[in-house]
Amino acid sequence: MYHLKHIALVLGVVFFSRLCIDTRGWLINDLALGFTCLPFNKTYYINNKPYNLPLEERYSFINGVHKLWVFSTDEPLYRGSQTKPRSELSINGYKYSTGVWQFEAHVFVPYGTSGVSLMQVFGASYPHASTLMVRVYNGDLYYYREKVIVHDIYNKWFRLNVIHNVECNSVKVYINGILKFKGHGRGGTTHYFKCGVYAQDRDSFYMESQWKNIKIFKKSK
Ligand SMILES: *[C@@H]1O[C@H](CO)[C@@H](O)[C@H](O)[C@H]1NC(C)=O
Repeated sequence: MYHLKHIALVLGVVFFSRLCIDTRGWLINDLALGFTCLPFNKTYYINNKPYNLPLEERYSFINGVHKLWVFSTDEPLYRGSQTKPRSELSINGYKYSTGVWQFEAHVFVPYGTSGVSLMQVFGASYPHASTLMVRVYNGDLYYYREKVIVHDIYNKWFRLNVIHNVECNSVKVYINGILKFKGHGRGGTTHYFKCGVYAQDRDSFYMESQWKNIKIFKKSK
């Protein structure tokens, strides 16, 4: 009987407080609570990729999985650009300058991919270009090169949620539903999300990330 009561209690908590149970059976906050999930399809993003290559050589979309890859020797996104190589989904169909916005996706990074930005909140005040970069160095997930968000991310799918509150000038990074990083915004007037691989420093020869279940949310008024 104790077990039944216990189960009923847990289900009650889940139902009434809108908490949810993650894949490991942990009770976690529903990060979508208070947010509206916006439509997401290919009309909402463009692909950035080495300018001299066809898209199929650096991007595939199979069974709902976006796979993006580049080599450190690749060309930048346009001729003459001083930026490093990248293959990114640039979700510029949702540009924003106010409000609270959330990016959610499941991410997979294969062993060896390093020195690369996986995800960005684009837009900041000069001299910065981004408000947030989620990077990988040697198997650990980083806030820029400054702080480890979580260790040991190679070769497993994990859920990444990023919440950017423009008015509060804050960014939060959740891994598998758990808050792992909280930081400040960096100003800027226009923002949008990007994900994929964008070479940074000490970049590995080959860089790849895979993405599925990409969702864009906006906090409801
Ligand atoms: C993308 O989603 C929008 C909004 O739901 C819809 O109007 C549009 O037809 C969709 N486009 C594609 C290519 O699926």
